[in-house]
Amino acid sequence: MSERLAVAERVEAAPPDGETSLWRAELDSLWARGRAFLGTDLAIMGGAMTWVSERNLVAAISNAGGFGVIASGSMPPGLLDAEIAATASLTDKPFGVNLITMHPQLMDLIDVCLARHVGHVVLAGGIPGAAAIQRLRDGGARVVCFAPILGIAKKLVRMGAEAIVIEGSEAGGHIGPVSTAVLAQEVLPHLVEVPVFVAGGIGRGEAMLSYLEMGASGVQLGTRFVCAHESIAHPNFKRAFIRAAARDAVLSPQLDARFPVIPVRALANPATERFRAVQREIIDRFNRGELAQKEAQLEIEHFWAGALRRAVIEGDIEAGSLMAGQSVGMVTREQSTADILAELVGQALALNGIRERRSRQPPPFAGAAEGPGAAEDQDPGG
Ligand SMILES: Cc1cc2nc3c(=O)[nH]c(=O)nc-3n(C[C@H](O)[C@H](O)[C@H](O)COP(=O)(O)O)c2cc1C
Repeated sequence: MSERLAVAERVEAAPPDGETSLWRAELDSLWARGRAFLGTDLAIMGGAMTWVSERNLVAAISNAGGFGVIASGSMPPGLLDAEIAATASLTDKPFGVNLITMHPQLMDLIDVCLARHVGHVVLAGGIPGAAAIQRLRDGGARVVCFAPILGIAKKLVRMGAEAIVIEGSEAGGHIGPVSTAVLAQEVLPHLVEVPVFVAGGIGRGEAMLSYLEMGASGVQLGTRFVCAHESIAHPNFKRAFIRAAARDAVLSPQLDARFPVIPVRALANPATERFRAVQREIIDRFNRGELAQKEAQLEIEHFWAGALRRAVIEGDIEAGSLMAGQSVGMVTREQSTADILAELVGQALALNGIRERRSRQPPPFAGAAEGPGAAEDQDPGG
């Protein structure tokens, strides 16, 4: 049995009263645009995570009906080429590639994606140039861009972006300052030209359904997939996720506004404390005139170089970077990718069912105000 069928069966089995297909039809109509855009059963993107989103996890997400995305990080073109080929050998379902716009070989990476007929390319890590978007579109790839605010989303659409991801500050990794809940309200009602995928802080299907009801075409999750069986993340990295609560996923500390720190959400660990101490030391040296501003800034930025790899691949969770979103509190065990997706869909279907049943019943307190004892039932407030 294919992974996709297995998911479908588990989901069908979940709800109690046999109305699943109706609820599923409702869910499918809500995310129809996202499914059509991605070419998938589920409009759930596996957000690219550097070192984590490689062939195994990406193929597992796509095989289970979602949309896996390879994180190219700082890969040179040759490595990306091999990773795409390896992923394609593990799945015949659609998957995408995430490229970092400030990569010095961005155009070569784009050419690799086009030569490998990658259907969708996500441009991340900054606002992409028009040339990159054009090259992808001319080569036949669908272009997805991250937008931090509505104005930029509109601009990216005018430049040729065919879908937008809005990612709130609850997310893991590099983040913007605004929460997913607020971004969604600011963007979704006003950006109807292209499908919009909501990312950041989504841990359960009910939240996913709510964003779809607000107008999203789909969602993107990262943190929830880190502890998938198919994820190659080191057991230490996975254990740290399973142990962590939402409040442990904190923003990288910045000590001095003159030396801005790129905001990254990660689990607090000894490296976070060491980063504070290192910043203090560098800033002191700057104040004493021993370092130029640019040198000091570079030294601060250098601190985290290679740190994600150290944690994800080598399992050094003390000195490495444990990038994680606040939804880490909802990662409670290792699961198969198919189970994670089935759980999300099952939770959305159950909520759909509750709403459907509610809509068929009279409002819970209708008429109560007229009955005996009504005055006592009223909440005095305050
Ligand atoms: C460990 C880790 C690494 C990430 N690396 C990248 C990356 O290379 N490129 C990118 O666009 N987003 C990256 N992200 C963000 C995810 O793609 C995704 O948008 C985010 O995890 C969604 O929010 P969530 O973590 O609350 O699910 C990363 C996130 C994590 C947790």
